[in-house]
Order: sequence, then structure tokens, then C-alpha cells
Amino acid sequence: MEETLLRLEAEALAAIAAATDLASLEEVRIKLVGKKGAVTLGLPNMRDVPADQKRLVGQLANRLRQGVEEALSSRRLAFEATAREAARAATSLDLSLPGRVPTPGRRHPLTLVLHELVDIFAGFGFQVVDGPEVELSYYNFTALAIPEDHPARDDRDSFYINQDVVLRTETSAVQVRYMETHEPPVRIIAPGRVYRRDAVDSTHSHTFHQVEGLLVDRGVSFADLKGILYALARGLFGEGVIARFTPDYFPFTEPSAQMGIWRGPNGICTDPKDPAGRWLEILGCGMVDPQVLANVGYDSEEYTGFAFGVGLERLAILKYGIDDIRLFFENDLRFSGQF
Ligand code: DAH
Repeated sequence: MEETLLRLEAEALAAIAAATDLASLEEVRIKLVGKKGAVTLGLPNMRDVPADQKRLVGQLANRLRQGVEEALSSRRLAFEATAREAARAATSLDLSLPGRVPTPGRRHPLTLVLHELVDIFAGFGFQVVDGPEVELSYYNFTALAIPEDHPARDDRDSFYINQDVVLRTETSAVQVRYMETHEPPVRIIAPGRVYRRDAVDSTHSHTFHQVEGLLVDRGVSFADLKGILYALARGLFGEGVIARFTPDYFPFTEPSAQMGIWRGPNGICTDPKDPAGRWLEILGCGMVDPQVLANVGYDSEEYTGFAFGVGLERLAILKYGIDDIRLFFENDLRFSGQF
């Protein structure tokens, strides 16, 4: 009897120790102390034990029952603690991990220059307006007095959607649209994309940006135009900028001019004698042709106006010393990250 109890105890404790998780421990528990468990059935009925053995067998039986219960419960607690620890590790934060560095976006150099330009013209009371990029050829050419046989109208120079619709080749198209629906005085700038059928190289792009300016009022003169555009040049490039006006021709202005900025290898050049200096034409301009005013029903005896169209890429080239227009459109982060 004594031996049987000792063997049962050893087997029971070994089985408990062999359990690998809560589920297998539960199976072991049922096999040992369940209703038909080995320990349950193996405990002696004390009435059957001879009197001289009662004390020893009693002690062994108690030790077996208690030992198995304790072993079961401490093993269960250990498994539960491990499970809790695993669950915690799966959901908790590792505060020692290095953080993710945020990568904020930057403004594109064209946007930066445009914002400066808009600020300057806002100071002169100009309002920013918008126009369609897919434009009627009427607004892009006809209303601007561009003759039917003008080379700009050629489908080798412009992207036509059909005979009457074209991707606008100049923001000047906004001029007539705006004047048709507004009475003078007019003070607007109209920034936007324009399209020309140019082969792409370091100075040409089929898509680029212009900002159109238009001012119509009583008594507007060419001197006003020059004053505003000099102020633009100084505002963007600083007091030392060197600018010039040279005569030009546009069908919708008379007289017409272009404005050039004296540039060096890395942007504007402030030394008029610098042998490395060159002129870069940044805009076309002029006094609005009375015919264009008449086209929109303005009284060209009472009102005069000036207009200009400036190339945004050229402003950015001067401002940041960029030497290839393709860089503006490639979205290479090594370029855009520099501004
Ligand atoms: N639209 C002309 C171009 O793209 C630029 C221009 C010239 C705009 C004279 C004007 C202007 O408003 O008056 O080359």
C-alpha cells in the first residue's frame, strides 16, 4: 500500500511537470483528480487499512492529495502568467524603438516664385483670376487680334483638340474672357499653365507657366507699365537688379516691348560690365490694342490699358540659378528638396 502510494505520487507529479500548456494541464488534472482519476481512485479507504499501518498510510495519502493539488495549481498559475506576459508583449509599445522621422513636403520653386509675384501685385491692388487651359481658339487667338495666318495658330505649333478648341498657348486668353464679364477699371493677374508644341530641351518645354497681367483704366500710360514691371523686378530680385525694355511686336498690344534681366551664371547679375553677363527675356508687354478693348465693348477713347505675360520658369531660373527647364517638371526630390 505504502509503495503504491509513493509510486502514484511520483507518477502524478511527473505528469503535471510534463504538461506544456493550460490545455494539456487540464487533461492531466482530469486524469489525476477527476471523478475517475488515478489519484482519486488510488487513495485508500482508511477503513480497509490495517490498524498498524493507518498512521503511515494516512500521512502518505494526505501528502499525495495535497501535493498533487498544489503542483496542479502552481503549474496553472505559471502557465497563466506566461500567457499574460505574451499578450502584453504582443500589444504593448516598444518605447526604445527609434521614431519615424516625418518627411514634410516642400513648395515647388515655381510655387515659391508665384507666391512672391502674387504678393507684389496684391500690393498694387491686382486680383488673381483663373481661366481654362482647354480654350476656345477664339479667346486664345481671334479675340487677341492674332491673324488667321499667324504661325502660332499652326497645328505644328499648338495642340488642337479640334478646329475650335486648343490647349491655350498663352495666358493672354484670360484677358478677353475677363473683360467680357467685367466693366473697367480692371486690375488682374492670371497665373497658369500653357502649352506649345515645342521639342523638349534644356530651354524648351511643351508645358510651362505664365502669369498674365492686365490693367485697364482711365489715363493708363506706358510709364505706368514700366513702373509696375520695374517694381516687380526689384521685388523679386532685389534693388540691384538690372532690367531693360526693348521693342517687340504682339498683335494685341501697341506699342509692344519685352523686358530682359541681366543674368550671370548663377542667377541675376548686378554688375553691368560683367563679361559673363547676358540678357534673359522674361516677359512680353505693351499697351492693350484699342481693337482688343473694342472687341469686348470697352470705350477705347475713354479707357487705355497695359498687359504683360511673364514666364514663371524664367523667373525661377533667375531667382535660383537653375540651368535646365526640365528640372521643374521631373519631380526629382534631389532637386525639389533644395528649396
Ligand atoms: N502672350 C505673349 C507670349 O506668350 C506674352 C505677352 C505679350 C502677353 C504682350 C501680354 C502682352 O499680355 O501684352 O509670348
